[in-house]
Amino acid sequence: MIAVEHLSKHFNGQPVLRDVSLHVAKSECVVLLGASGSGKSTLLRCINQLESPDVGRITVGDVTVDCSRPVGREVQRQLRLRAAMVFQHFNLFPHLDALRNVAAAPVHVRGMPRPQAEAEAMEWLRRVGLAGHAHHVPSQLSGGQQQRVAIARALAMRPDALLLDEPTSALDPALRGEVTDVLRALAEDGTTMLLVTHDLRLARDAADRLLVMCAGEIVESGATDRVLRQPAHAATRALLA
Ligand SMILES: Nc1ncnc2c1ncn2[C@@H]1O[C@H](COP(=O)(O)OP(=O)(O)OP(=O)(O)O)[C@@H](O)[C@H]1O
Ligand SMILES: [Mg+2]
Repeated sequence: MIAVEHLSKHFNGQPVLRDVSLHVAKSECVVLLGASGSGKSTLLRCINQLESPDVGRITVGDVTVDCSRPVGREVQRQLRLRAAMVFQHFNLFPHLDALRNVAAAPVHVRGMPRPQAEAEAMEWLRRVGLAGHAHHVPSQLSGGQQQRVAIARALAMRPDALLLDEPTSALDPALRGEVTDVLRALAEDGTTMLLVTHDLRLARDAADRLLVMCAGEIVESGATDRVLRQPAHAATRALLA
């Protein structure tokens, strides 16, 4: 569902991604681990066209982009519709309640009639355990609840895949569990996800497969249990230590 082929990216002459290739199959949850500065966020941002790679190919669903050529706006838009991003800091609209936060993009981007978008938004909020909070604005929600609204908002666009960048790291440890539970349930239900985290509990609970980045390269890839039990690369051992 997601394929990255030979992707490279420099910032100010410094390589940040070096010939990165990966794939995420339909219904697979792949967790990307790596030290701070190893290039994880840049990789997700490239997939979602928030950064322009120097070279490489990116496919999400039925859209493929060759990054060595100028990428048109319509193709970028199509790629973003297929891969919805969830950020560390939830970025909800502060003046809209949870229901309207979830319904906003289906109405404004997809052109869905508002009554239908709000009915579906209610279902997505139920899915993340927040149907009872539909009319709370973000300031009336805990961090964990806000992140669950942000996940519902991403799902409401019916993307082919979710890209999640440290969805639990802005939360107090006590609030991480509720977001981890939602992500684990989505993984079990076959939501295709590429998830960046430093949270090993989340990785263990949600991931079918782990990838490890070090200095812009993927240095290890394998089934979650195998990587956690028998890490092959020094960078992985350092992360697990
Ligand atoms: N817009 C930018 N301009 C210049 N350098 C950047 C930019 N964005 C990221 N970098 C650099 O690229 C490298 C990778 O950054 P990135 O944010 O992808 O790392 P990360 O693995 O997500 O780290 P963390 O775990 O801390 O979030 C870092 O050296 C960073 O300083
Ligand atoms: Mg990052």
